[in-house]
Amino acid sequence: MAFSDISPVFALLDGSGVALRLFGVPCLEDNLAWGLADAEGHALLVDVPEAAPVDRFLRAHNLKLDRVLITHGHRDHTAGLKRLLQSHPAEVLAHSRLGLPASTPLPNGGGSFSWRGLEIRIMDTSGHSDCDTSFYMPAAGVCFCGDTLFAGGCGRLFAGPPERMWDSLLKLRALPDDTLLCFGHDYALENYRFATQCFPEMPVFAEGLRQVETAGVEKRIYAPVTVGEQSRRNPMLMADHPEIIRALGLDTAAPEDVFAEIRSRRSGF
Ligand SMILES: [Fe+2]
Ligand SMILES: [Fe+2]
Repeated sequence: MAFSDISPVFALLDGSGVALRLFGVPCLEDNLAWGLADAEGHALLVDVPEAAPVDRFLRAHNLKLDRVLITHGHRDHTAGLKRLLQSHPAEVLAHSRLGLPASTPLPNGGGSFSWRGLEIRIMDTSGHSDCDTSFYMPAAGVCFCGDTLFAGGCGRLFAGPPERMWDSLLKLRALPDDTLLCFGHDYALENYRFATQCFPEMPVFAEGLRQVETAGVEKRIYAPVTVGEQSRRNPMLMADHPEIIRALGLDTAAPEDVFAEIRSRRSGF
């Protein structure tokens, strides 16, 4: 089965009295285009890996696209934008440094904006690329984190030292435990295979792998995940965890160096 044939992810959210549907549309090999829709059919989208599956989804659910938010400039998150806008005109919000045509720059300095009366906070979570933005909606308890964090893992370090990514991961870890994290790729199986091999003594990762495998058997995408679950079960968020430090024999290392070691091992996996 092709990834794009897997059913979209759905969840119902309560945005402080505003009913919202969260959706994640499978695109390309393993990308997810996330979005929110309200009861009146207005939709917000985060990233457009390709136009066709998103267009089909919006039409099938009779949604009017208001806004597109872009987490970072990699092609697999923006390639479908131009074509999608031809059939679903919408305001595009993206960091000015991404240089996307016809986009409105995001407010500077980690500010916020609103959609359908709901606040969306802008978080600088760079380190995967030179300019990564996560979008956090406190009222709905959801955060769209692009390629900074994945279930059981995190993005590759294409920009800057590991400290930069570690700082970004700490920002995500500091969100309330029940926050849903919506990430740009479905890498959970490989991430948990790595975690169980790298940390065979830690049953949390074996349990994570079992749950991801069950989702695969049921043809479900293992998403979204919560901050609380990932804080206890994502090695990239656990570089200051005593068991992780002990397992790696890095007792005197700083957390960012422990993180760098885990990230490096994952790249070589
Ligand atoms: Fe990326
Ligand atoms: Fe990506």
